[in-house]
Amino acid sequence: MSPNIFVFFSLLAILFVRPVLSITSYANDFIDPAYIIAKSFNTTTDKAQGTVIDWANNLNLDGPWSVVNKTATPPSGDKHDYMSWAPYSWPDCSSVGNTTALSDEEVWTTCPYVTRDGEFNPDVGLVTDSNAFQAMSDAVLYSALAWVLGNQTAYATTAAMQIRTWFLDTATAMNPNLDYGQMKRGPTGQTGAHTGVLDLKCMTKVANAILILRDSGSTEWTSELDSQMVEWTKKYISWLQTASIAQEEGSADNNHGTFYYNQLASLQILANDKNGAYQTIKTYFEKQYLSQIDAQGDQPLESARTRPFHYRAYNLAAMITNARLGTYIGFNAWTLPTSAGSTIQTAADHAMSLSAASEQESELYPVVAAVGAVYGDPDNKYAGYLKQREYNYAIQPYFLWNQPLSDSGYTRTTGGKASASATTTTHKSGATHKSSASDTSGDVALTHGRTVFQAGIVAILAVSAFVL
Ligand SMILES: *[C@@H]1O[C@H](CO)[C@@H](O)[C@H](O)[C@H]1NC(C)=O
Ligand SMILES: *[C@@H]1O[C@H](CO)[C@@H](O)[C@H](O)[C@H]1NC(C)=O
Ligand SMILES: *[C@@H]1O[C@H](CO)[C@@H](O)[C@H](O)[C@H]1NC(C)=O
Ligand SMILES: *[C@@H]1O[C@H](CO)[C@@H](O)[C@H](O)[C@H]1NC(C)=O
Repeated sequence: MSPNIFVFFSLLAILFVRPVLSITSYANDFIDPAYIIAKSFNTTTDKAQGTVIDWANNLNLDGPWSVVNKTATPPSGDKHDYMSWAPYSWPDCSSVGNTTALSDEEVWTTCPYVTRDGEFNPDVGLVTDSNAFQAMSDAVLYSALAWVLGNQTAYATTAAMQIRTWFLDTATAMNPNLDYGQMKRGPTGQTGAHTGVLDLKCMTKVANAILILRDSGSTEWTSELDSQMVEWTKKYISWLQTASIAQEEGSADNNHGTFYYNQLASLQILANDKNGAYQTIKTYFEKQYLSQIDAQGDQPLESARTRPFHYRAYNLAAMITNARLGTYIGFNAWTLPTSAGSTIQTAADHAMSLSAASEQESELYPVVAAVGAVYGDPDNKYAGYLKQREYNYAIQPYFLWNQPLSDSGYTRTTGGKASASATTTTHKSGATHKSSASDTSGDVALTHGRTVFQAGIVAILAVSAFVL
């Protein structure tokens, strides 16, 4: 092949590569595996299905991820221990004397740390475990979904490999504890905080992925892998139920408590303990939930924070995830009233009535879709809210599992069958994870920009098609 033809086809490939909707890491969710495996989807979800596969492809350009990759070593001396630093914690070296010559390590251990709610200390990114876990949990979930949607074994192979790397392979496995999560630093610090348990809230996505692999009969998810993972999960559940910082997190009144139950219940389901999961979900709805939503639908513990729009949407995502886990194991929480007589729907309606001001409104969209799907949308309130703000919301993965929900005519006007060709793409070529650590506040938008890489891959494929 002449160099000119090579260049021509490479350029052609770059021009025709489909742009990919940038990836959003949803705060949490639980998708009924049976719904996915049955594959009797409304054709309005075709584009959302295409996006799921695109996201799986893009997430899998990174990884596998492992706790041993971090450069810092936890106080235990064992990199297999998960570790992260408290995200809103800042050093106050004013009492330390001459601070000009302190090295980073000296700052971490000699200066007292103070909390500034909502203000991320960027040095938290030096310890990579929380970003790595978040990326892994999304990659594994979208790969499991893509395996079923596309019926392509390669996705199941990848998901299984990523799970093995993070949890099971001796060289790279995470120990089943969070003793060093969101560590406080300073002279009295270097131990994990209860808030660190939140770092692994997306264990729900991992459990969800495994249930999909397991129930779809994937040959890549072997019985040996399954029993090893169940064994790991049982040890970690034991930590979640007995470690004092885990118990403290479990009794938190706000989103921290809500997410704790997401994690515990989904892992109990994974470990084949449905009775345990039922008790867990029942406990949440008989305890924290009762005081989380007031008569107006406000969530006072969340709206008191520095980023109230975010925190309302965030806790709603966790409440919805608990209710979905409940549905999966036969506990109906959707109509349960709080002490003030409100439901999840009341809280969503209230959140929708408020302005996001300078915060990111799109965090609420998956919540709005869920509430419209679960409670019904006879007045077009929920679909209408979405349409007004994101006219092509039917392209978003959440639209796939929030059915029935109207696509507001999007599929009809753009032609049904084409898969996700996003029109609202915002990428940064070759950017790596742009994520605010998973943290007390959460993952706002984990954005991967991979168009250029993808174009490169397509170009290589186009070229190799000629060489072959
Ligand atoms: C992290 O660890 C895994 C497993 O050892 C390895 O395959 C991967 O390349 C590492 N990633 C980075 C960024 O070092
Ligand atoms: C503070 O430490 C720096 C670096 O060691 C040194 O140059 C400076 O003289 C010290 N200042 C005082 C007031 O001790
Ligand atoms: C994949 O396709 C085969 C053959 O048509 C079918 O038997 C199987 O159920 C499909 N698997 C999934 C996960 O859809
Ligand atoms: C698919 O969704 C549309 C829009 O919500 C609805 O009108 C239609 O009845 C659905 N079709 C099926 C087969 O459920």
